[in-house]
Amino acid sequence: MFGIRFSHSKIERNLILLGVLTLITISIGGLVQVIPLFTIESTIERVGGIRPYTPLELAGRDIYVREGCYTCHSQMVRPFRDERERYGHYSLAAESMYDRPFQWGSKRTGPDLARVGGRYSDEWHVLHLRDPRALVPETVMPAYAFLDRPLSYANMRDRLAALRRLGVPYTEEMVTNAVADLEAQARPAEDGSAFAARYARARQMDPDGNPRVVTEMDAVVAYLQMLGTLVDFSEVTPEQLRQQ
Ligand code: HEC
Repeated sequence: MFGIRFSHSKIERNLILLGVLTLITISIGGLVQVIPLFTIESTIERVGGIRPYTPLELAGRDIYVREGCYTCHSQMVRPFRDERERYGHYSLAAESMYDRPFQWGSKRTGPDLARVGGRYSDEWHVLHLRDPRALVPETVMPAYAFLDRPLSYANMRDRLAALRRLGVPYTEEMVTNAVADLEAQARPAEDGSAFAARYARARQMDPDGNPRVVTEMDAVVAYLQMLGTLVDFSEVTPEQLRQQ
């Protein structure tokens, strides 16, 4: 190595030399893992359908993080047969590309939530969050009935602007209309065409059935119902999947 011929016994008897060579070996391994991430833009293959979260979903996500839902729920379907049969298509890197921080998690006291969107009705989620044991008697999930309180969203513009600065492709228009879009999504009776034009595949919804107040419950359910639903897998090519 480096033009010098070390015999193994020489290395093993010289503690400093062994240490230095170990360090070099580990560094090479580390670099091999880290360097591809410097080109993250090209590492993550873009797939159709992925968009930034709507303001209501984003508010719900912030509550999900605040409440520590990730301590019991992962958000990553791994590419194993049992997981795919239970949860659906394995997670793609692109599906969490706008997550800061990502919610992959490693603890599964409850089921993985990466594809929970659309699996239950909005009403089911509200009842379940208010009192999980009313629907699943043996569950250890805590009750989150307090989420029925009003959502604080006056600073939604700032939250979008901050993410935009970090590279999430919110347009100027999305940032400016953050509060209006949040209210439009949470009030199905109102005209939501401007909101729908900005966020593809987002649904107007009022999970708790109270259109006058936008609650934390509305936001969390909007977030849960979007999870795993953005990618249309019929449009993803095998090449794109291989690169994930
Ligand atoms: C102490 C652990 C724990 C915490 C914390 C927790 N959960 Fe759960 N969760 C569970 C368990 C266990 C289940 C499975 C039984 C059930 O449906 O209640 C579950 C089920 C669920 C389900 C249904 C998933 C499915 O596919 O059936 C959703 C949705 C959910 N939790 C959302 C949340 C949200 C949102 C939070 C945070 C506000 C949260 N959970 C916090 C343990 C937890």
